[in-house]
Amino acid sequence: MCGIIGYTGKLEAQNVLIDGLSRLEYRGYDSAGIAYFRENIAHISIRKTAGKVKDLRSVCDKVNPSTCGIGHTRWATHGGVSTTNAHPHRVGQVALIHNGIIENYAAITEKFNLGDELQSETDTEVGAALLNHFYSQDHDPKSAIRKAVAEIKGSFAFGILFEDRPGEIYAVRNVSPMVAAYDPEIGAFIASDVTAFIEHTNRYFVVPEYAVVALSPNGIEVEDLKGQKLTPEFMTVDWDLTAAEKDGYPHFMLKEIHEQPAAITQTITPRIADGLPDFSQDGVSDAFFEGVRDVTIIACGTAMYAGMVGAEFIQNHLGLPVTVSIASEFRYARPVIDKDSMVIVVSQSGETIDTLEALRLAKKYTDRTLSIVNVKASSIARESHYVVYTHAGPEIAVASTKAYTVQVATMFLLGFKLGLASGRLTEDEARDRVAALKAMPAHMEEVLAYENQVKELTSRMINAHDAFYIGRGLDYRVAMEGALKLKEISYIHAEAYAAGELKHGTISLIEKGVPVIAIANQQPVYEKMISNIREVKARDAFVILISKDKAVHDPSICNVHLSIPDVPDDFTVFETAVLCQLIGYYTSVGKGLDPDQPRNLAKSVTVE
Ligand code: AGP
Repeated sequence: MCGIIGYTGKLEAQNVLIDGLSRLEYRGYDSAGIAYFRENIAHISIRKTAGKVKDLRSVCDKVNPSTCGIGHTRWATHGGVSTTNAHPHRVGQVALIHNGIIENYAAITEKFNLGDELQSETDTEVGAALLNHFYSQDHDPKSAIRKAVAEIKGSFAFGILFEDRPGEIYAVRNVSPMVAAYDPEIGAFIASDVTAFIEHTNRYFVVPEYAVVALSPNGIEVEDLKGQKLTPEFMTVDWDLTAAEKDGYPHFMLKEIHEQPAAITQTITPRIADGLPDFSQDGVSDAFFEGVRDVTIIACGTAMYAGMVGAEFIQNHLGLPVTVSIASEFRYARPVIDKDSMVIVVSQSGETIDTLEALRLAKKYTDRTLSIVNVKASSIARESHYVVYTHAGPEIAVASTKAYTVQVATMFLLGFKLGLASGRLTEDEARDRVAALKAMPAHMEEVLAYENQVKELTSRMINAHDAFYIGRGLDYRVAMEGALKLKEISYIHAEAYAAGELKHGTISLIEKGVPVIAIANQQPVYEKMISNIREVKARDAFVILISKDKAVHDPSICNVHLSIPDVPDDFTVFETAVLCQLIGYYTSVGKGLDPDQPRNLAKSVTVE
């Protein structure tokens, strides 16, 4: 998953490109580079380096009279992290940036005998060589692009410069995301997402797959592979630049943790009418919820853990069978769904390739696919039969936080609606639950006030090698996300475990000082949970207890007690999530790490 940007127009391109790349770094940050024309001379300059965008700035020209160029920040797929493997890649007349994977790069290399032209280990350089091969035949950029994409198998978002065409940028995509924008006063842009150019314009369009885009300071032309002109469908971004900046927080992740109460309110309010769940504004009719025999929730990572909570909640409240499928597994198993199945696809970015392909498979079995997506007009949003957008604003930190809780809140509302449609919930019961949900943002604010207490306790975690998150029922599902939050940004191995299962083997790993985050909010199993906690405490674990109790000072139960506001059991997931996010965040910061850009990760996984 990489970040790409292209700009041609009246502004100084180097600044536009590098500022844009810094906003795209959450998509990948192991190397970065730009290619640009100086003063509209037919010569491409390239500056690139292993490292982050700030390192790229240091190798760029201090003064650079350029008004056209392309830029890239990389998450390595083919070839290690090095300056040679950094994009842009130049072969002959062509400079290329790429987000995606050219799956048949080896076959292309052999078929067109490109080997001698390659310096790097990347698939992208093969793409540049292929484009150059065709361009050298007829010096027609669009013809070269059409011929090249006809040969390529895989996902791509290409930004292309042709050396004898200063001021012009060409682009084409398949699966990998790309948006474009044009403002007569500024110029034309392409990018992986709008955060790259939001400070210049908020009107953009999603580049259609396999459309050939030609950008110049005078405008943007879009045509299909047959050369037919296409009219872009412009949209307007519904948030501003500050949403894509830290606003005084040390990290995007902490900012986004604090944005959750507002994000939930913004997401659920348009879906509540007269105290009841209502998705009519999303174009989802009541009929969509009728006659549903079973539900399958499909996602990856944090979105999948949100699905786990949604599934447990819907099953608890409705007695409706709900299955959660890891998207990369769903794709290769035999789906057990049909026309009476509802499929809910969850994705913050709306571009996760495994989830997108799983959606495409599910659509072969049912026309009841509904996606819960945070990025407007993203691929998953556009390809699902219905989409319910979460209104969390851009989530920049790689570690998902506000997207998780708005996804859970949306699934709760969908569950209420399903309950009403199936007669499993009365209107009064639905109203009560909707009211409880509407009250959660305020309770989350109360929990955010524990920030300093959490920061203090994480000092006992920073030297841990392993940590365990244990719970029962919904608490066990939330524990899954808690464990992911810790490990992906602090690099401590963390595991979620059903508390009743620990004694069947894993408890052998509990020894003095091992952090155990014990979540005990489900009252029907509270006593059992306390017994399980005593079992680990008896083996000297460092236990952090999260529960609705006012205060627990019993040293045989916990070292630290985080008491959360008393809300119905199922709704405690929102409070617990905030605490788990803060635990992960402050452990990462306490270890001197950058929680916004954890090693090896990228925000949107658009490669398989
Ligand atoms: C979560 O913190 C990770 N960034 C990752 O697991 C993420 O949730 C997953 O890749 C799914 O992304 P999506 O929601 O954009 O599809």
